[in-house]
Amino acid sequence: MNHIFIYGPPGSGKTTVGYTLAQRLELPFIDLDRAIEVNSGMTIPFILEQQSEPVFREMESAALRTVLDNEESVIALGGGSLLRDENRAMAEERGRIILLHAEIETLLNRLDSDVIKRPLIMGNVKENLSRLLSRREAHYRSFPLSIQVDNKTISQIILEAQTVLGRYHLSGMGHYDVILQDNIIEQTGKLLLKHGFKNPLVVTDENVKKFHAAKIVASLRDSGFNPKLITIPAGEAYKTLDTIHSLWQGFIEYGLDRKSTVIAMGGGVIGDMAGFAASTFMRGVGWVVLPTTLLSMVDASIGGKTGFDLSEGKNLIGSFYPPRLVLADLQVLKTLPEEEMISGLAEVVKAGVISNPILFQMCSRGFNHAIGNLEDIVKQAVVVKMQIIEEDPFENGIRAKLNLGHTVGHAVEKASGYRIRHGEAVAIGMVAEAKLAERLKVAEKGLSDTIAETLRGLNLPIDIPGDLPHNEIIRAMSLDKKKTNGIVRFALPVEIGRVELVDVEKLDMVMEEK
Ligand SMILES: NC(=O)c1ccc[n+]([C@@H]2O[C@H](COP(=O)([O-])OP(=O)(O)OC[C@H]3O[C@@H](n4cnc5c(N)ncnc54)[C@H](O)[C@@H]3O)[C@@H](O)[C@H]2O)c1
Ligand SMILES: [Zn+2]
Repeated sequence: MNHIFIYGPPGSGKTTVGYTLAQRLELPFIDLDRAIEVNSGMTIPFILEQQSEPVFREMESAALRTVLDNEESVIALGGGSLLRDENRAMAEERGRIILLHAEIETLLNRLDSDVIKRPLIMGNVKENLSRLLSRREAHYRSFPLSIQVDNKTISQIILEAQTVLGRYHLSGMGHYDVILQDNIIEQTGKLLLKHGFKNPLVVTDENVKKFHAAKIVASLRDSGFNPKLITIPAGEAYKTLDTIHSLWQGFIEYGLDRKSTVIAMGGGVIGDMAGFAASTFMRGVGWVVLPTTLLSMVDASIGGKTGFDLSEGKNLIGSFYPPRLVLADLQVLKTLPEEEMISGLAEVVKAGVISNPILFQMCSRGFNHAIGNLEDIVKQAVVVKMQIIEEDPFENGIRAKLNLGHTVGHAVEKASGYRIRHGEAVAIGMVAEAKLAERLKVAEKGLSDTIAETLRGLNLPIDIPGDLPHNEIIRAMSLDKKKTNGIVRFALPVEIGRVELVDVEKLDMVMEEK
């Protein structure tokens, strides 16, 4: 069982954080101190007063042992409960521990009101707490997953906890977990069983199949499933109705019914198509995504947009249809060609420009730095997307900010006959749209250069290729979905970390040289 333990000094907020995180992740919550009190029928101050600390610690170990067998939970631990090696070993084996660090002033502020419940620091609270902290300092510092909680709101802490864990739960459109973890693909079978998902059929493309199909098939077989596999040709050029048709036919051939589960294993193209086919087959079968490109991990696999391209334009047909689970395994990126990695970084930069200047800064340090800190940047980019789609899942407003770079980008992608990758086109689009923002005085002069420099450092293209006819790009933009009454709504950068939605009537303004 993969529990989440919340640990830290007295007053660090373990119960509040644990409870709120459990609510957010839709998991049961256990407060270990409460469990001890319920088991023994005594309050903790009473136990410590009437018995002794060793007796209490004994009860604590027993309580921990019992709760470990519960289903996956968020467990708030007592402030010294992992001092015993035996307890720590149990917790580390059965889950992950997040340590809440705080300055002594923060702890004292929080403790003021409920000192009476903390017998170990009663009396001169400040002196006793500071003694306790110095005794335990090395212990608390020895936990690798941690959050500094001073001056943060509970929602900031909860968001950070999800980021640290690589574990998110979305509930704006559908309810599903996004789990980012090494080798999680190998647990697909177990997770399907846990969620009660049945009769899996894997949709993948020929490249991904070569490297990763065996792993998923084995995982599903080990859990007693008899998985089917449909492989389609790779690439955006195949994101068509013909391919969707072949998927529907495959579903029928393999006897899929409404209780079955489609597993999309691949990049954004596979996710968009398998998701769309699942959303329409028999009016909807459940689907699970295993993103295998950087781009799909940070963007395409989250948020429930599915669809395919028409010759008239990209993603013109589609549905909002959330997956039931997203399993992102960073290990699979090891087989991803470098150009695809670079393409994915464009969406990471996009996330930074939209709302995370620190992420943008990380990207500004170049390709090697970004790749060297991949896990961190993926987690940060996922949070940007998650926050926006949770607030506006069906794109009635701010979700359109995620289209930064995409109005021009989609047009470039299409005009190039999909020779230019999605992420590359988004990079070109971001620079063109930042220039437009400067021209419209939405952004200060120089913003487009800042964005361009960062993209160049990641080996991304920044200029519309000379051989692409401008009028074709303008025509493609005029067919964009983000259009009402002939006016296209752009997501334009105002500064790094802020984007605004701006209606643009004269599309040829986008292509002006100056
Ligand atoms: N639904 C959404 O919200 C959303 C968001 C962003 C992008 N998208 C869509 O996503 C698509 C782009 O996605 P993409 O960049 O992932 O493209 P993709 O799915 O075409 O994958 C890129 C290439 O990498 C190969 N590949 C994938 N994983 C691999 C791995 N682990 N090892 C080796 N090769 C691997 C694929 O076979 C393909 O050739 C576009 O169609 C775009 O419109 C959708
Ligand atoms: Zn995109």
